[in-house]
Amino acid sequence: MTRQQAGPGLGPTARIAALAAARQAVAATAGQASSSGRRAPGPSTFGAAPVRAGPGPDLAGPQGGRCRSSRPAGLATHEGLRQMQLLEQAGTALGLASPYFRLHEGHARTRTRIAGQEVLNFASYDYLGLNADPRPRAAAHGALDHYGISASGSRMVSGTRPVHLALEEALARHYGCEAALSFVSGHATNVSLIATLMEESDLVLSDGYIHNSVSTGMALSPAARRSFPHNDLAALERILENARPLHRHVLIVVEGLYSMDGDLPDLPRLLALRDRYDAWLLIDEAHALGPVGRTGRGVFEHFGIAPSEVDIWMGTLSKSLASTGGYVAGSDELIRLLAARAPGHVFSVALPPCLAASALEALRLLGDEPGRAASLQANGAHFLRRAAELGLDCGAAIGAGVLPVMVGDSALASKLSERLLEAGINVAPVTFPGVPMGSARLRFFLSADHQPEEIDTALTATRAALDRLAAEGFSGVAGLMGQEV
Ligand SMILES: Cc1ncc(COP(=O)(O)O)c(C=O)c1O
Repeated sequence: MTRQQAGPGLGPTARIAALAAARQAVAATAGQASSSGRRAPGPSTFGAAPVRAGPGPDLAGPQGGRCRSSRPAGLATHEGLRQMQLLEQAGTALGLASPYFRLHEGHARTRTRIAGQEVLNFASYDYLGLNADPRPRAAAHGALDHYGISASGSRMVSGTRPVHLALEEALARHYGCEAALSFVSGHATNVSLIATLMEESDLVLSDGYIHNSVSTGMALSPAARRSFPHNDLAALERILENARPLHRHVLIVVEGLYSMDGDLPDLPRLLALRDRYDAWLLIDEAHALGPVGRTGRGVFEHFGIAPSEVDIWMGTLSKSLASTGGYVAGSDELIRLLAARAPGHVFSVALPPCLAASALEALRLLGDEPGRAASLQANGAHFLRRAAELGLDCGAAIGAGVLPVMVGDSALASKLSERLLEAGINVAPVTFPGVPMGSARLRFFLSADHQPEEIDTALTATRAALDRLAAEGFSGVAGLMGQEV
């Protein structure tokens, strides 16, 4: 492809603007990416501004005046806003609409309605199809009628309801632990857990692909922190060898199924390292509960390891469990500490009882209906097979719910998502700095309810859209970055 082919359809002025904006945006955000390039906060894509709902009513302020959108003043100098503007300019110059903040007009299942059009949906975490099942919904309705909408207080003060205790007992049983505790947000669960547990003389070691909620908890904790390259347990051992003697407690944090790449940690080896270096192991099961293990019980089931072998389990209710919120399962002592000290528990409202009820029912169904995990895994295997036949690269994904299709260039991934929506398929891209430069991808979330033909349709359309964009000479940011102006 010649350099002139990059940025098709752009006039010379627009191309220069796109190039300048893209270069600045990449330079500005490069410093933000973590050592692994994962989960840096900040702008997420080369694309135009997010789609927003139409203008709302004119709101009167306390004195009857109009609300002023310019407050707080001076935000224009905020580094995050500046970087977002650069990325938006680059996206606009490249003719990209934002692939994020799409409005779903009804219940987003394997199909959803966006901008009046019914499309196939691969962007929801409803791995087991339980968010579409009437039983968790009926459980939520029952609790809503019985307890009201909100618990209207933190668990400590006035928020505890019998359904919270029932959910926590069920979670503790699932993990073979003494106790469990629910939180109103999955993200806040990790933040609170790590910031509360780890003290000044301690060390937290996390996988390079770890979720932002873990790194935020690490940043808020007074403990020292290090990250090791993704799944590189030799690198982890080198850190442990050197650093273990310097710290009182060491916590290793990994995910049971990595949410960007859809691959697994080596749990047996991690447990061996944990024992050798007298550390603690925390596993975030946000994406593993449901997709991983023969019956979907999680990464311990996949490896045939008793869950009580792991020191601390954390998970979210927002994915397979058709709800919202998070949980920690572990020893009585740990749970008593968190219940009394974790700020996301003590100073935040309890999980709404209706959401505790839907999660409890979904967890029951996960146990009683293992066919759901089997269907999801069959869909994952079908996806991997079909993608390989079409020459699409799914990286290290094992075929359990999270299926990336590697694209490389961030602008190309965004453009591809836009073309797929036009073709009736909703799938979100993940772009730099959410993933390292050059490893942007489309990330398909599968459900047990997807039909193999729907997966075929999506993958065939992906192949066709990639080929068409190549034929059109769309070389994305990489093409622009290589040009002289
Ligand atoms: C690995 C991981 N942990 C924690 C969270 C936070 O969970 P929630 O979105 O339920 O707050 C997420 C969110 O997607 C996640 O992927």
